[in-house]
Amino acid sequence: MRSWIKPALFIACLIPLAQLAYGFYTDDLTANPIEYITRFTGSWALIILITSLAVTPLRKMFGWNALIKYRRMLGLFAFFYAVLHFLTYMILDHFFDFQAIAKDIYKRPYVTAGFTSFVLMIPLALTSTATMIRRLGKRWQQLHRLAYIAAAAGVLHFYWLVKSDIRRPAQYGAVLALLLGVRVVYALLPAASKRFAGKAKAVTPQTGGSRSTSAR
Ligand code: HEM
Repeated sequence: MRSWIKPALFIACLIPLAQLAYGFYTDDLTANPIEYITRFTGSWALIILITSLAVTPLRKMFGWNALIKYRRMLGLFAFFYAVLHFLTYMILDHFFDFQAIAKDIYKRPYVTAGFTSFVLMIPLALTSTATMIRRLGKRWQQLHRLAYIAAAAGVLHFYWLVKSDIRRPAQYGAVLALLLGVRVVYALLPAASKRFAGKAKAVTPQTGGSRSTSAR
């Protein structure tokens, strides 16, 4: 019934690329096009990555289980924009000067954080196929928790590169912390309710009650 959502989301994720292509075609990428493209692709990589991380919290909080169908696409688009971001840096900014790139990764903390984020996204993209999900089983979920670390490294990368106005990285950081907070609460909830159920069972025979309070 909602078969249009997936293609619509696919097209929506291509809009930033189209915007970039249009800006290139009309020669409207500011006075420093390389910096513009780097920032633009970096921003979209992080926005889409954080959006993909919102899927599980939204499912848990509101029961919107259908969202799971779009998570893989979002993750892969985040990686796609991260690849464009890295290629812009490697080709347009550094002209394949791998020595300078390695020095940058080693010496500049914000590049180290960006590189960490990018490297962490690689196994996530490679294991996003149905075959890999089946093959890795439970380990797939554990591996894909790396997406949170990749996003946190992306936020740190952004935070470290801005000179004074930290509002945007702080906003991304706040959203990420909120999403992680929801995950932690839901991870602790079953443990807490199990403990509660255990206590309730222990109390029930003494009080003579026949119904367990955990059922309520
Ligand atoms: C090898 C990996 C990476 C390198 C070398 C790199 C490098 C850079 C550089 C040079 C800039 C522009 C700095 C400036 O304006 O002076 C930048 C900006 C940025 N990057 Fe990266 N980056 C990498 C990975 C990533 C990843 C994986 C993400 C997202 C998950 C990301 C998100 C961003 C963001 C959000 C910005 C700032 C955008 C803005 O100013 O609006 N970067 N990066």
